[in-house]
Amino acid sequence: MDNRFTAPGKIILFGEHAVVYGKPAIAIPVSGMRASAWSEPNEKGLTINALDLNEKFDLKNTSNQFSILAQTILSQNKQNEPNLTINLSSKLPQGSGMGSSAATATAVCKALSNHLGVDLDANQVSELVFNAEKIVHGTPSGIDNTVVAYEMPVYFIKGEKPVTFTPGRRFYLVIGDTGIEASTKETVSNVRKAWEKEPGLMEGYFSEIEIVTEKGKLAIEQGKTELIGEIMSKNHELLNSIGVGHKKLDELIDIANKAGAVGAKLTGGGGGGNMVALAKNIDDQQYIHDKITEAGYRAYQTSFGEQR
Ligand code: PMV
Repeated sequence: MDNRFTAPGKIILFGEHAVVYGKPAIAIPVSGMRASAWSEPNEKGLTINALDLNEKFDLKNTSNQFSILAQTILSQNKQNEPNLTINLSSKLPQGSGMGSSAATATAVCKALSNHLGVDLDANQVSELVFNAEKIVHGTPSGIDNTVVAYEMPVYFIKGEKPVTFTPGRRFYLVIGDTGIEASTKETVSNVRKAWEKEPGLMEGYFSEIEIVTEKGKLAIEQGKTELIGEIMSKNHELLNSIGVGHKKLDELIDIANKAGAVGAKLTGGGGGGNMVALAKNIDDQQYIHDKITEAGYRAYQTSFGEQR
C-alpha cells in the first residue's frame, strides 16, 4: 500500500537518568518495530482511528497528541479539515520505553501531511510531534521525537539542538523484557530524592555516566563492538548505583552475557522494563534472543548502522 507511512521505535543506549541533570544521552531507532498510518476517504471530517487502542480521535478531542498534532498541521498550512480517516497501528509495546507515543504521532503526522500535499522535513516532523507531546505528556526531553523522526542515532543534551551521527558499522542488539511494568516517572522521582539527599554522590555518578556516554558515542562511530559492550556494562553498573536496577534486569543481563553478548545494560527508566544486549554478530544475536525466550522472557532483535 503506497499511502502507508511508518515510524520506528527507539531505545536509549547510554545516558538515561543523567540526561535529566544536563548530561548527554544516546538513543537509536528500532527500525524493525514500527508504527504505521494509512489514510482513506470518509464523509465526516478527520478521524484518527487507533486500531490497537480501539479508540477514535477527532479534532474536537484536544486531550490527545494526535488531535493536537492534526490541528497544528491544518492551521499552519491554512487548510480546512479533510474528510479523511487515518488508521493507525503499532508493533511497539506501549509504556515500555520504546518510543511508542512518538512513533505513532510521527506516522500520523506523515500520513496527514502527505494527504494535504505538505512537504515536511525530519526536523519539522520532530518539532510538531514534540509540541503535541508537550501538551499531553508534560515535559518530554525531546530525545524520542528526534530519534524517531530522523531515524538516526542521536546524541542529545536537554535544551540543546540534537546531533545525529553515523555508526561505523552495523550493530546487532537484543532487547529483553523483564515483564515488570515500571513507571519512568517513578524511577525519575526516586533518583531525584536520592540526589536531594546526597547531591555530591549522585552528581559523581552522573559525571561518570557522562564519560561513559561520550566514550560510547566515539566507539559507535568507530565501529568498535567489544568496546561498546564494555561501556554498556559499565553504564549498567552506574545505573545500579543510582538505584534504578532490578534483579530481573540483572538476571536477563546474565543470560545475555552467558550467551555471548559483549555487554548489556538496562535501557530507559529502569526498575524493571527492558534491557539491551549487544551481540558480536547476527548469529550470536539469534542465540542470545533464543536463550532469553527459553528462560521465559520476551525478546526482540534489532540492528542499527549500515553494513560496511
Ligand atoms: O523510559 P524511557 O525510554 O522513556 O526513558 C526515560 C529516560 C530517562 O532519562 C530516565 C528520563 C528522561 O526524561 O530522559
